[in-house]
Amino acid sequence: MTTLKNDRFLRALLREPVDTTPVWMMRQAGRYLPEYRETRGQAGDFLSLCKNAEFACEVTLQPLRRYELDAAILFSDILTVPDALGLGLYFETGEGPKFHKTVRTEQDVANLPKLNAKSDLAYVMNAVSTIRSALNGQVPLIGFSGSPWTLATYMVEGGSSKEFRFIKQMMYAQPEVLHALLDHLADSVIDYLNAQIDAGAQAIQIFDSWGGALAHREYVEFSMNYMTKIIAGLQREKDGRRIPIIVFTKGGGQWLETILTTGADAVGLDWTTPLYTARDVVAGRVALQGNLDPAVLYGSAASIEKAVKAMLDDAYANGEKTGYVANLGHGITQWVDPAQPKIFVDTVHEYSHKYLG
Ligand code: CP3
Repeated sequence: MTTLKNDRFLRALLREPVDTTPVWMMRQAGRYLPEYRETRGQAGDFLSLCKNAEFACEVTLQPLRRYELDAAILFSDILTVPDALGLGLYFETGEGPKFHKTVRTEQDVANLPKLNAKSDLAYVMNAVSTIRSALNGQVPLIGFSGSPWTLATYMVEGGSSKEFRFIKQMMYAQPEVLHALLDHLADSVIDYLNAQIDAGAQAIQIFDSWGGALAHREYVEFSMNYMTKIIAGLQREKDGRRIPIIVFTKGGGQWLETILTTGADAVGLDWTTPLYTARDVVAGRVALQGNLDPAVLYGSAASIEKAVKAMLDDAYANGEKTGYVANLGHGITQWVDPAQPKIFVDTVHEYSHKYLG
């Protein structure tokens, strides 16, 4: 077993002392990097890139060569799970993800196969173990999955959605059908994430990208409760170290007190919630991650530095010295100039000495 050279990301998630604030970026591997576009070109397309362990490993490491990131994240996609359940994932240029089949009836849900992640998603597990050996202990590797609710939005709508017409219709007209789908997905995600942990993932993030589209009671019933079920089903320790779990509900900052009950070690926040309020609400019960508006990276070096310093001032306002991981409040976009994330990352490391030094 290789020892971890930089474990400040895991330590901060478990609220253990850190020397400086750990930082990574959601979607840190992607189209804003010319070397990513080059490797994707070699692979042919995005899905072929995900399915080839060498290519997936290469693009995972690309942002770590440019920036002093404190964690790597598996290069894959949340929609590999519905794909493995037989829906047929494809991408149309400029249109985002789509499925050949949708899930809209009781029969559609009953027809979903039981997932065996180790065999059905063997290419993901190969990517995890390949990346883990290539990292050679440099930083920890994050595994991930979509939340059942977020996966279900794509499966029921047949792709990306703004209105969530079909899934909300299912939620209010046939809630038992949606519950059956979400339960099936929760079991699939438990199997999938435990397989990632077995293959070498050292922390887990659950992306609930669309939980914030729900009303607060429906959020608990249709999104949060299934994440709670998943967390209860995950292996929490490997090789003598705890596997921290991060729950990220975009738009969930107003429900923090409730989200604490999921059993997650950390909660991710988007940029709409002030970190000083969030730190007071959670009062040391979980760690927090976030929450710079990704659009800040469109600004000048001076404006990025200013925004990062303000974020750290908020994060450490209540005097706590750990339990915080710097990140964006959602994924980095394809339009960011690759010079700008370096300013974000370096400012986090340098300025946090004011509070942790
Ligand atoms: O963070 C990382 O660097 C790891 C890679 C990662 C991808 N997708 C690669 C990707 C992760 C963690 C995801 C998660 C994901 N995928 C989410 C949850 C996070 C979030 O942003 O809310 C969601 C909702 C998806 C579904 C998805 N995949 C969409 C909507 C799209 C198209 C929109 C877009 O940004 O292009 C994808 C495609 C996708 N997934 C790309 C990448 C790098 C772009 C594909 C390309 O190279 O053309």
